[in-house]
Amino acid sequence: MNTALFDCKATIIMHGIMFLRKTNRVGCRVENIGFLSDTTQKFPVERGEFNKLNNGHKGFFRQLLGDYRVITDNHDLVKYNNDWFGYVKGCSQIVLKPKTTEEVSQILSFCNENRLAICLQGGNTDVVGASVPVFDEIVVSTELMNEIIDLDENSGVIICQAGCVLENIDKKLEGSGLMVPLDLGAKGSCHIGGNVATNAGGLRLLRYGNLHGNVLGLEVVKANGEVIDCLSTLKKDNTGFHLKHLFIGSEGTLGFITKVSLQCPPRARSINVAFLGLQNFDKVLKTFRKAKEDLCEILSAFEVIDSTSMEFAKETVGITSPIGDYPYYLLIETSGSNPEHDADKLYKFLDLVLVKHLALNGTLATEPAKVNAIWAIREKIPEGFKHSSVLCYDFSLPLSKYFDLVEDMRNHMGSLAKKVFGFGHLGDGNLHLQIEVNEMSKEVRDHVEPNVFERVKQMNGSISAEHGMGFLKANYLSFANPPSKVEMMRNLKSMLDPKGILNPYKVFPWTYS
Ligand SMILES: Cc1cc2nc3c(=O)[nH]c(=O)nc-3n(C[C@H](O)[C@H](O)[C@H](O)COP(=O)(O)OP(=O)(O)OC[C@H]3O[C@@H](n4cnc5c(N)ncnc54)[C@H](O)[C@@H]3O)c2cc1C
Ligand SMILES: *[C@@H]1O[C@H](CO)[C@@H](O)[C@H](O)[C@H]1NC(C)=O
Ligand SMILES: *[C@@H]1O[C@H](CO)[C@@H](O)[C@H](O)[C@H]1NC(C)=O
Repeated sequence: MNTALFDCKATIIMHGIMFLRKTNRVGCRVENIGFLSDTTQKFPVERGEFNKLNNGHKGFFRQLLGDYRVITDNHDLVKYNNDWFGYVKGCSQIVLKPKTTEEVSQILSFCNENRLAICLQGGNTDVVGASVPVFDEIVVSTELMNEIIDLDENSGVIICQAGCVLENIDKKLEGSGLMVPLDLGAKGSCHIGGNVATNAGGLRLLRYGNLHGNVLGLEVVKANGEVIDCLSTLKKDNTGFHLKHLFIGSEGTLGFITKVSLQCPPRARSINVAFLGLQNFDKVLKTFRKAKEDLCEILSAFEVIDSTSMEFAKETVGITSPIGDYPYYLLIETSGSNPEHDADKLYKFLDLVLVKHLALNGTLATEPAKVNAIWAIREKIPEGFKHSSVLCYDFSLPLSKYFDLVEDMRNHMGSLAKKVFGFGHLGDGNLHLQIEVNEMSKEVRDHVEPNVFERVKQMNGSISAEHGMGFLKANYLSFANPPSKVEMMRNLKSMLDPKGILNPYKVFPWTYS
């Protein structure tokens, strides 16, 4: 018998799923008959009809990769079995670390023939339980696929292996006056392959768009080991179907991304930030429209924070508003190539919104230290979740109704909630709705879900703006999508991965109700 021990200390609530504070250690038991992971103890999920890893399989992997790229030591396996928040935990007994597309192809072809389930893993920063095994799936990690293959400084196109860490790609680009077109809190850990597989959004999507636009090409290995070469480096290429889009946001269920070609924009030489206090949401929307008109090509982020979020941040992490207390706050960033021109534009804009009484007060930062201090107000709010019990959601909503949901949920929760608040990427219609409670009881959760999802649907919003469905939201797939779309998704899945070995229990529902 093999036992790997896990220890979960955080109390974080993400996406309506509870992250329990546990003092006891939870074991992961693997016997001849059953696999018992922490996830399978929490959720009524059943293991698929996959074969179990035996010594013959291990021998094959060792021969292919050598001993040091086949991890089987229980202690070393822990970080691959546990997600970022320590909430979902699998009990895989093996992690494989290929370096080349050819090795990925051989691993997949072998697993497909032997009906062995695989969990694809990049930086393991996923927040919906997509990146860790549920049972004993073989973890195939892109950790050692970290080579930058080519950079064309003229076109700004970089080609790299899927396991390159986002921040490392950005550093590589800096010398050429370029940058990666996406920025997120996990950039020091997440891999570009994982970003593509989740269609990650982040802080600058407003300016640079999503990965469907910035990824020019992909190389992908199918479940049976066949390599699909869609690694175009062209901006324009209409020679047939744009197959890369199938894999962007597929969360490891359709193929293994091995290489990415990415369009990189010029690095901004000047970055300025304004922080405003506003009286009501109508004025927030008017300011947004004005910012798009007046700041236009240099506008690079538009974030909103409500007063309750600010109160929460003050109580949990000691952050206060530098401009006094207001019902709403806006963080507006510009990035461009000419510091004087950009600052001038932002000063004029700030003047105008104050004169027109759109904003009641505001401050502006042009020096990096002050710019960072203002960004910290926005970025530190989620840190507060570590100090309290908060249910976190990630929704897309029509802008006209963006904050209605916060008010609706406040009424719906009544005394069950301590605070209901919202902040987020307003410029992209992406609201992070938070519900702070005294205790994360079943009563509380049942009161919130699926009610909150139903409200989002009624508002013609999306129950996942940027994080995906993963394992934790997979059972809502048919709730969130029309039957015709779900059927086409199933057809594509069975065509590309007929035995269902790639990331089982993810995206597609694991219980049918
Ligand atoms: C602090 C923090 C901040 C974050 N901020 C944002 C944010 O602003 N915006 C946002 O959208 N998300 C955000 N996220 C979540 C986001 O999805 C991930 O950070 C990131 O995109 C995942 O990359 P990863 O390499 O860690 O992938 P993993 O977590 O390892 O995997 C994610 C998914 O991709 C699949 N996968 C990984 N590699 C491959 C591959 N090579 N081929 C096929 N499938 C693969 C996995 O199976 C899994 O389904 C944040 C997470 C954290 C922890
Ligand atoms: C307005 O903001 C400034 C900082 O820019 C601050 O010093 C001042 O106190 C604020 N005014 C009010 C009324 O809060
Ligand atoms: C949602 O969209 C439908 C059809 O597109 C429309 O009839 C309905 O009024 C919309 N609902 C809301 C709340 O806007």
